[in-house]
Amino acid sequence: MIVVTGGIKGGSGKTTIATHLAIMRAHDNKDVLLVDADDQETSFDFSSLRSSSEDDLRSYTCIKLSGQAVRSEILKLKNKYDDIIVDAGGRDTVNQRAALSVADILIVPFVPRSFDLWTLDTVAAIVEEIRQINPNLKSYAFLNRADSRGYDNSEAKELISEKENIKMYDVIICNRKAFGNAASEGKAVHEVKNADPKAISEIHALYKNVFNH
Ligand SMILES: Nc1ncnc2c1ncn2[C@@H]1O[C@H](COP(=O)(O)OP(=O)(O)O)[C@@H](O)[C@H]1O
Ligand SMILES: [Mg+2]
Repeated sequence: MIVVTGGIKGGSGKTTIATHLAIMRAHDNKDVLLVDADDQETSFDFSSLRSSSEDDLRSYTCIKLSGQAVRSEILKLKNKYDDIIVDAGGRDTVNQRAALSVADILIVPFVPRSFDLWTLDTVAAIVEEIRQINPNLKSYAFLNRADSRGYDNSEAKELISEKENIKMYDVIICNRKAFGNAASEGKAVHEVKNADPKAISEIHALYKNVFNH
């Protein structure tokens, strides 16, 4: 399966989610390619840090691609891997559109109570355009960096559910220090010492939605 983390907002958690999905898929014994198609190259830097860890961590392959090569290289590589995860960055770029043109699923993290939600219409319009060339593209939103209580989450969900071409995963990933802490070690939240069980169960819920439907 080819999964793209995208959207048009920075800081919503695309890299955190892309790297977690790659690691969790590798733990499920899949041969995974993580494509860093964001010029900021955070997924690639994370993966390099992970590779240099002295701990025995599950591995996946990470490459950087940009421009139309995102599409052409993924098409060449797709039969060599079980799954491909693409971190497409947070802008409407050639890279992101090239990734979406070959993707099965776009997943878009939204931070409730933020300017992220203002980008919903634009994301919906991009999906609509890409479907002209890739009619099977599915697109899902979910909440990331959410508060664990309060009305903001349901308000955000309601706004997203108004968009016809973006479905919603019934998953809320809260704002948890565990994500940043794990990233600084090149790990997923379940791989660190004193792991946070809530962070693990939230990201696992997302993982199940993406891969077991
Ligand atoms: N659920 C979360 N809880 C706490 N911090 C998070 C969460 N998701 C992401 N972050 C942090 O927010 C920052 C931006 O996340 P990142 O994945 O780099 O976003 P993006 O790739 O969309 O720009 C990073 O410091 C990351 O560790
Ligand atoms: Mg990023």
